[in-house]
Parts: sequence; structure tokens; C-alpha cells
Amino acid sequence: MDLDVIDVVARWLHLMGVVVWLGHNYANVIQNPLYRPVGPNTPLEELEERLETALKREHAIFRHASLLVLASGAFMLWHREILRDVLTLQGGHAVLGIGVWLGLIMVANLWFVLWPHQKRVLGFVPATLEERIQCSRITFVSSRTNTILSFPSFFFMAAGAHSSFLFG
Ligand code: HEM
Repeated sequence: MDLDVIDVVARWLHLMGVVVWLGHNYANVIQNPLYRPVGPNTPLEELEERLETALKREHAIFRHASLLVLASGAFMLWHREILRDVLTLQGGHAVLGIGVWLGLIMVANLWFVLWPHQKRVLGFVPATLEERIQCSRITFVSSRTNTILSFPSFFFMAAGAHSSFLFG
């Protein structure tokens, strides 16, 4: 298949991946707007209910959607021969470059901060109850960080693709 056609498909996959990944984050903000801390007096049933909710939220699909976003984005940059210029923020590529750097930070945050702690919260990695509660605070902050970073990331991705005239 023609690489230009694959570029169109990659863009579509990129957008689908973004919808699945960040749709999950946005739904989470609506369902759990605030972090509800737990203390030594929190009843065990409530703790179990919270962990079960976390388990329901843990669909590997959204984590792997982030890899689809990364791979499709990297393909487009490679195929268009702008990978280096975008990453080093050269001239008009700087706008997309800022979006890409934000996207890379988001992927790293998901895989290297959120996921290792989420594994403890869910009991995939053994941890004491106290550690699991501490980890749940970290996963909350990490997830919200990505949600907030998605706002400028969306702006710079779209501005890099359609509004470079704004940036001279
Ligand atoms: C992880 C690293 C990422 C890379 C390497 C990357 C790369 C790219 C590239 C090369 C394009 C095409 C731009 C153009 O046609 O000029 C693009 C488009 C886009 N990206 Fe990303 N991206 C990444 C992450 C993200 C993230 C995290 C989001 C969501 C916040 C996102 C949202 C978008 C959107 C919405 C478009 C379509 C822009 C448009 O056509 O209006 N990307 N991305």
C-alpha cells in the first residue's frame, strides 16, 4: 500500500486512539470529580467498594490506546520526514513540536508513573493496604495531570496542523 495512504490511516488511528485514551480520562473526571481520601476509620466495605471501582476502571484498552497514539504519531512524523525538526522545535514545526513533547510526557506519565502505582492499588503487585491507599493518591494526581496536559496538547496538535500562519 502507498505510504501516503498509510499516513491517512495513521492520522485516523491517531485520532481514534486519542478518543479512547483521553475519553477514559474525561469520563473519570465526571465520575470521580474529587479524590476521596481514606483513613484508618474508613469501613472495610467502603475500601473494598473503592478498590472494586478502580478495578472496573482498569481496562488495558485505554493504556494500549496511548501506544497507538504514540506509534501512529511517530509514523506520520517519520513518513513526512519532519521527525527531527518537530522534536527540536525548528521554525514552523515548533508548534506541532510542543504538542508532541506534551504528548510524550503524557505517555511517559501513564506508563512510568500511573501504571506502576495502579498495579499496587489493584493488587497485581503485592502491597500493604497502607501502600495501596498511598498509591491511589498518586494515580489520581497522575491521571489528572494527563487530563490537564491534554488541553494544551490538543491545541498545539491542531494548531500545528492547521494554524501555523498564526505563528509566522
Ligand atoms: C505521543 C506522542 C504524539 C505524537 C508523536 C503525535 C504526533 C502527531 C502528528 C504528526 C500529527 C499530524 C499533524 C499534522 O498533520 O500536521 C498529530 C495530529 C493530532 N494529534 Fe498527535 N501526537 C502525539 C500525541 C497526541 C496526544 C496526547 C493528543 C491528544 C491530546 C494528540 C492529538 C492530536 C490531534 C487531535 C491531531 C489532529 C490535528 C488536526 O488534524 O487538526 N496527539 N499528532
